[in-house]
Amino acid sequence: MELKDSIEQRRSIRKFTMEEIDLNDLKEMVRRAGLAPSINNQQTWKFIVIKNRDLLNTMAKAVSKNIAEIPSHNSEISKIIKSQVSFYATFFKDAPAVIALIMHPYESYLEKGTKYSHEEINRLRSYPDMQSAGAAIQNILLSAVDLGYGACWINSPLTAREELEKILNIDPAYHLVSFVAVGKAAENASPSNKRPLEDIIEIFE
Ligand SMILES: Cc1cc2nc3c(=O)[nH]c(=O)nc-3n(C[C@H](O)[C@H](O)[C@H](O)COP(=O)(O)O)c2cc1C
Repeated sequence: MELKDSIEQRRSIRKFTMEEIDLNDLKEMVRRAGLAPSINNQQTWKFIVIKNRDLLNTMAKAVSKNIAEIPSHNSEISKIIKSQVSFYATFFKDAPAVIALIMHPYESYLEKGTKYSHEEINRLRSYPDMQSAGAAIQNILLSAVDLGYGACWINSPLTAREELEKILNIDPAYHLVSFVAVGKAAENASPSNKRPLEDIIEIFE
């Protein structure tokens, strides 16, 4: 598929058929994620491919429990918000596969030889490791479309980050950054409303 078509056809897909995903396709998505640019080419990422249904259910239960326990007003509106958030944070349990992106912190050259701390450099440079993660995730999303699948970037389960890191047995040097749910689309997601070019561009000629 042409890159332009993958970009234009990509939508967040949240309903999937239970058709198995060929492991080779998942490996290809991760291979392409690994080709993304990263700060100083440090590639501090790893990708965990999860197809195991028991594991996905355990993860979703931990997320639901965590959301239920977030302190909130005992009002109708807070119940509605929690139930909506819960859906967006747990629908991955019904996806044929989920790819988790984990990262360890990058090392900036500046923090070694200057007054800047890691946190200051990170803030000044607008979190280059998260920018790198975004590039990798976008490669997964576009590759999913290219290979005939639908996908959704999912970050809200990370309110239960500690629990999820335990469940996935993640090396303590790493932290969870995001998930991508992938599968054959069972919905025709309509194009989401995108701001027009004139609205998002500024040109200095
Ligand atoms: C950083 C990030 C985190 C996101 N987290 C979630 C999420 O937790 N659950 C979800 O259903 N969608 C999530 N999304 C998908 C957005 O809701 C979606 O991209 C947006 O509504 C635009 O729709 P589109 O992807 O179809 O263009 C996330 C997207 C991004 C970039």
